[in-house]
Amino acid sequence: SSTLVVAIDGPSGSGKSSTSRGVAAALGLRYLDTGAMFRAMTWAMLRDRVDVHDAGAVGAHAATPRLTSGTDPDGPTITVDGEDVSAAIRLPDVTAAVSPVSAVPEVRARLLELQREVIGDGGIVVEGRDIGSVVWPQAPVKVYLTADPSARALRRAAEEGGADLAATEQSLLARDKIDSGRATAPLTMPAGAHHIDTTPYTLDEVIGLVVALVEAVE
Ligand code: C5P
Repeated sequence: SSTLVVAIDGPSGSGKSSTSRGVAAALGLRYLDTGAMFRAMTWAMLRDRVDVHDAGAVGAHAATPRLTSGTDPDGPTITVDGEDVSAAIRLPDVTAAVSPVSAVPEVRARLLELQREVIGDGGIVVEGRDIGSVVWPQAPVKVYLTADPSARALRRAAEEGGADLAATEQSLLARDKIDSGRATAPLTMPAGAHHIDTTPYTLDEVIGLVVALVEAVE
C-alpha cells in the first residue's frame, strides 16, 4: 500500500544500505538514504570552509545549502545546489566530518523536514540512525540491523576497495560512539523494531527476512 514505510536503522557497516536497496527493488518501493543527506550537508560545510567542530558555526550554516535526494533504489542521486555529489560524499574527508555535523540540532531539524517531505505518503524504504525512533515512529515495519564489528569492518573495507581493516574498524567504532552518545536523536533500537544480527547471514538472506516482515503486515 502507498502508506507503507519500512524504517531500517543501525550502525555503519551493519548492511543497512545493501539491505534497504534490495528490499526496495524486490517490492517496487522507493528508497531514501538519510545518511547520504547528512553526508551532503557535511560536504557543503567543507565546501564553504565551515569549521565542522564548531557546532555554532555549523548550526548557523545549516539552512544554506539546497539539497535534493533521489529515491531510485538502483542509483539514488543526491545534489547540493544543483551539483551531483553522489560520489564525493563517500570520500574520506566527508566520512571523517559527518558525525560531528550530524550531532548539531539545526542540521537534524533541517534534514528531518526534508526527510518527511520525501517520505510523503510512503511507499518507501528509509535507512538511517533515527528513522524508527524520530523521523517516522509510526512506520508499520521497523528493522534494527547490527553485526559484529569485525564483520562490519570487513564489509566496509571491501566497499572502499581494500582499505586497511584495523583502521576501518576503528573509524566505524569512533562514529558509533558519537552517533550513540549525542543528545539529539541518538542511534538507538526503536520501540517495536525487529532486531536482526546480520553477522551469520548473506545479503540475500537478510533481504528475504525483511521482505517477509513487510509481507506479514500487508
Ligand atoms: O549511513 P552512513 O554511514 O552513510 O551515515 C553517515 C553518518 O550520518 C552517520 O555516521 C551519522 O553520523 C549520520 N546519520 C545520522 N542520522 C541518520 C543517518 C545518518 O546522524 N538518520
